[in-house]
Parts: sequence; structure tokens; C-alpha cells
Amino acid sequence: MKLLLSHKTPKVDLLFVLIHEGEPLGKEQKKHLGSESTKLIEKHLKAKDFEGGHGEMLQLFPNSGSAKKIILLGRGKKNKPKISALEQLGGMAAGASKKYKAKSAAVILEAEEAHAFGSGFALGNYEFKKYKKEDKKAVNFESLTFLSEANKSSRSALQALELFAESSSYVRNLVNTPTGDLNTVTLTEEAQALAKKWKLKLTVFDEKDLKKLGCGSLLSVGRGAEFPPRLLVLEYKHKSKAKHPNLAFVGKGIVFDTGGLNIKPTGYIETMKQDMAGAATVLGTFQAIAAAKLTGYFLGVMPLAENAVSEKATHPGDVVTSYTGKTIEVNNTDAEGRLILCDALAYTEDKWKPHAMVDIATLTGAVSVALGYNITGIMGNDHKLLNELKDAAKVSGERVWELPLDDDFVELCKGSFTDLQNATDGVRAGSIMGGAFLKHFVKTTPWVHIDIGGTAWAEKPSSSTKHGATSAGLRTLIELGKMFSD
Ligand code: BES
Ligand code: MN
Ligand code: ZN
Repeated sequence: MKLLLSHKTPKVDLLFVLIHEGEPLGKEQKKHLGSESTKLIEKHLKAKDFEGGHGEMLQLFPNSGSAKKIILLGRGKKNKPKISALEQLGGMAAGASKKYKAKSAAVILEAEEAHAFGSGFALGNYEFKKYKKEDKKAVNFESLTFLSEANKSSRSALQALELFAESSSYVRNLVNTPTGDLNTVTLTEEAQALAKKWKLKLTVFDEKDLKKLGCGSLLSVGRGAEFPPRLLVLEYKHKSKAKHPNLAFVGKGIVFDTGGLNIKPTGYIETMKQDMAGAATVLGTFQAIAAAKLTGYFLGVMPLAENAVSEKATHPGDVVTSYTGKTIEVNNTDAEGRLILCDALAYTEDKWKPHAMVDIATLTGAVSVALGYNITGIMGNDHKLLNELKDAAKVSGERVWELPLDDDFVELCKGSFTDLQNATDGVRAGSIMGGAFLKHFVKTTPWVHIDIGGTAWAEKPSSSTKHGATSAGLRTLIELGKMFSD
């Protein structure tokens, strides 16, 4: 899908006109619509065929002008904006484009509003067609034009949108691809292809390297699987002489989470191909950073493993030794995300000494109990970095909420027979406990943990989210990358 900017309406299949409830058409809108279409819309507004309530839609056929169809989209009350309203309308517009088999559309919007609407459109326009034989012939949407002044802010909004749209499809394709076709080895190949395309340096640690490195915790998670664990380290450096990365992104890459011997029951296991969404998001972030040619030095670290069931799998109660030398009792093989991330975080801090680290992971189901399916949980050891992440989320339009990583939780991760245990009974604060465990593996580097366990996957589609992978966190990480560039 192409995104374009124009001050004049091109020939399009659909023209979207967004109208607030009870408000007349704006000056800009009238200018773009021309007098005949303006009159047509005003007639329908007057007749109350369309009132502008949030999500309301009306299809009109103009006699003149360059659009085949005009679609009025209701924005709701002007002084009572709904959460993510424009993003949802963007998703609805994508849905309408599909329904009417449109190839091109335009929308009249201010530059500041283009990002939210466009993100929703990009999210809603996506389809995972890899395994659809019949649908392949369906109409492909080609271009969305923003009718707005071409100035610095509209151009940069459009560029950000383009980067996000590309990367988001890339991330969602990876996450939606089932484990049968995307294991630790083929995911490594995907990373190699990305590195080649964008001329990034990629180092792959295989199981022998990991043993030498001392990543006993990561290795323990992959022990039961046919395809062995990997650690991928991706480097991006552009116009930078820095010795240490400005920022390191660490992503959980469990290609499938059966739960291990603490096996997940029916109802919980079906969507666990999503458990590499963190790693996929790191790859997507790098694609966007490279396409934007950000100046700076960035690191992407992705521990990959399959949490499988077999006679070789780690048993509940087994003791493993992490990169730091700390021993961990694996009292629940289903709390495997923290076991691969703890080695990755400790290795990253120790070997690369980045100025800051963020990890992104489908770490807990509990985060959706706390925050639902549309808000991502964050926690960390540094207020400044947490605030920067919140700022990045505000710019990107994603919703995040900080959970308290207080000392008592960190203390509760200690084991009876070992230094640490990977799961603690009777605490209930599952997401915080995940973060608290990871905190034991970060010494002094500012660090934030992002738990997309509730947001990476949408079981119920909405206007802008399709069933399946959502690429949650990607937009925010791209913004954070911009904030950390030189
Ligand atoms: N990958 C899961 C978390 C998850 C669940 C993500 C549902 C997305 C949707 C993770 O490895 C896990 O199993 N976590 C356990 C931890 C528990 C055993 C301490 C959980 O959240 O139940
Ligand atoms: Mn698990
Ligand atoms: Zn998992």
C-alpha cells in the first residue's frame, strides 16, 4: 500500500470525509470537496441521514468531482473524544475499502491527525494471505492519499506512517506464521534475510556457542525441542562513532510455548505461536530504523527457543545456571520467557554495555487480567527511561501502563534451594513477578520491560485490529528509537 500526500484530490475510488457530531463541514473539507459535493453532503446532514456519531458511516454518490464514492465517517462529539477514535476510524475506512473493492482512497485530514487515522488504516488493511488459495485473486488496495498541506510536519507524519505500515505487516506475517513453518532455525534465516537486505550485522549463537557463553537458562528451555535454541544479535550503526549502543532492544522469541512439562491445557495452548512476538517486534523495529536511516548505534538481541514437551525437556524442579552464575529452580516450565530473557539481558548488559535496554515479551497471561487486551504493561528500574517510553507511546498512539516493580516482589523471586526460582506460588501479581525476576539480571543499566502478553494477539477482531497478530509495541519502539538516535 502506497501512502501519498496531496493538496488536490486525485482520481480515487473512495473519498473519506470525517465529520464531528452536530458540526458542519470545515473550510478545508469544503475546499477539497468542491461546491457540488459540499451541497450533497450538507443536504444529508440537514436531513439527519447522518449525524456524525462515532463510527457512523454513510455512502454517497457524487455527480462530479474526482471520487467515485464519498463516505462520511462520524467522529463523535468534538469535545468528548473517544480513546483511539481516529485509529478506529482508520480501521473502518480500511474495512470499507475492502468491502467496496476499492483500489484507491483519499481522506481530508490535518497533518496531526494523519498518523492516528493512517495507523488504523494500515492495521485494518492488513491481511494474512499466505495460506489462502482462493483469496489470492482478491483486489489489492493500492494507495491512500492524505489531502493536506505538504509541509514539514505532514511529510514527517507520512514517513513515520510508511515505516510503521511496512514493519507492522512484516511483524504480523512472522507472528501469524505457524510454528510448523517458523522454528528457531527458520526464524534465524528470516533475521539473516533482514540483515542482508538492510546491511546490518547479525551474529548467530548456536547451542554450542551458548554453552560456551554460559547461557544455561536459555538452553534449558529449548532442551525438549527438535530445533535447538539460538541467540541472535543484530547491530545497526549509522554515522555514529559511539563505543556502546544508544539503546538495546531485547525480544522474547519462543517459537511455540506448549508450557513444557507443565503443559498448557486446551483453551490456552492454541495461540502460542504468538510467543515469538517480542523477537519479531525487535526485527520490525530494526527494519524501520534502517529504512529511516536513523543516526546512532542500536542493538537487537533475540533469544530463540521452542518450549516443547519430550523426554528431554527440563523437569519441574530442575536447577539451571544462568549467564550471571545465579542458579534458578525451574519450578514451573511454563514460566520459560523469563528464563530465556534473563540470559539475554545479562549478556547484553555485560558484553555490550548499552546506555539503556528495553525488553519486549509475551511474558504473562496475567497482564491481560490487569490491563485487558488493548493496554500493554510496562515496568522497569529507571524513572527517566519509563517516562521516555510513556512519551514514545503517546506519540505513537499506543496505550501503556506502568506496574510497580517494588522491592518486595523482587525479594519473592528468591528460591529455597537456589538463588532464584522462576515462579512463586501465592503472590498473584503474575506480571509484576515476571518483571521482578528479570530485575535480578540487570545490574545498573536503565531498563524497561514491556509485557505484550495481553496485546500481541487479538482473538476478537475490532475495526483496526485483525484476528491474529497485532504488532503491539512496534510503533512505540520505533518512536523510542527516534528519541535515542543521535
Ligand atoms: N507465553 C506465556 C504468556 C502468555 C499467555 C502470553 C497467554 C500470551 C497469552 C508465558 O510463557 C506463560 O506461560 N506465563 C505463565 C507464567 C506462570 C506459569 C508463572 C502465565 O502467565 O500463566
Ligand atoms: Mn509459558
Ligand atoms: Zn511463553
